[in-house]
Amino acid sequence: MKVSIIGGGGLVGSCAGFALQTGKIVREIALVDLNQELVEGQALDLLHGASLLSDQVITAGGTESVAGSDVVVITAGLRRKPDESRLDLISRNVTLFRGILADVKKVGLKKDAIVFVVSNPVDVLTYLAVKELSLPPSQVIGLGTVLDTTRLRSLLAQRLAVPPTQVGVTIFGEHGDSMVPIWSNAQIAGLPLDKYPSVTPSLIAEVEKRTRGSGAEVIKKKGGAGFAVGVSIADVVHCIALDQRRILPVSSLINGPYGIRDVCLSIPTIVGRAGVLGTVEVDLWPKEKLALQASARVLRETIDKVLK
Ligand code: 2OP
Repeated sequence: MKVSIIGGGGLVGSCAGFALQTGKIVREIALVDLNQELVEGQALDLLHGASLLSDQVITAGGTESVAGSDVVVITAGLRRKPDESRLDLISRNVTLFRGILADVKKVGLKKDAIVFVVSNPVDVLTYLAVKELSLPPSQVIGLGTVLDTTRLRSLLAQRLAVPPTQVGVTIFGEHGDSMVPIWSNAQIAGLPLDKYPSVTPSLIAEVEKRTRGSGAEVIKKKGGAGFAVGVSIADVVHCIALDQRRILPVSSLINGPYGIRDVCLSIPTIVGRAGVLGTVEVDLWPKEKLALQASARVLRETIDKVLK
């Protein structure tokens, strides 16, 4: 499988490339960036480690190297400042993103290609990609709250001193301020979270608050996320590559579940080689469903404002 990463010269794109290389599942990793020197440097740095990892093709180039991709990951875009919301980025990134979509359309996409949006605000840009590309909506997904979900699981695990891979809690909605952690279905090693020793409402509130602020916290400390967003991207790409049909909180066009229509956001989504195979409308607490619908409204208002 060939995966191209537009923005592959940057922190997010190069970390995604490294996660795909160490994952050893995809056959070809094409880093794409306007900054030729930088993207060649990233590809060269990956290539140097190839003999210790796996026999993959790793290349660097311009948009033309998107040709023949099975998955096109778009990470290019301006990063927000710590005190900015992801939606604040919208005016600056829409123009840039529209240009990227136009370039991708010019190069041409395989009929069964999957376009995977990471650039922020990811839900709005995923919606834009659905509208502007001539692919079926099911073949356009966004990273959505996959990163927020792994952050929440990992921070909760650290706080409770439990294995992070055994923490089950998922975030729905916007990858942004209106994200909705679903505590009603949370568990640790299959045991209900609210009955787990030392779990209290204030501990849950503390970890939720830290998760919501994690993007800004990482930007403040090191300029922006790299490793966690890289492995989040790779996890979704591997689910596509292996047609695993796992249920992931990726962003996609929602029409119907939870009474939400014509907006892209994250709910439990079955992901395979064909992209979105379906969604799972799991029962939520009334306040969670209301918060999810509010998140959809925030995104819809932004779409109406910016993408008219
Ligand atoms: C984050 O939350 C990049 O939006 C991404 O760090």
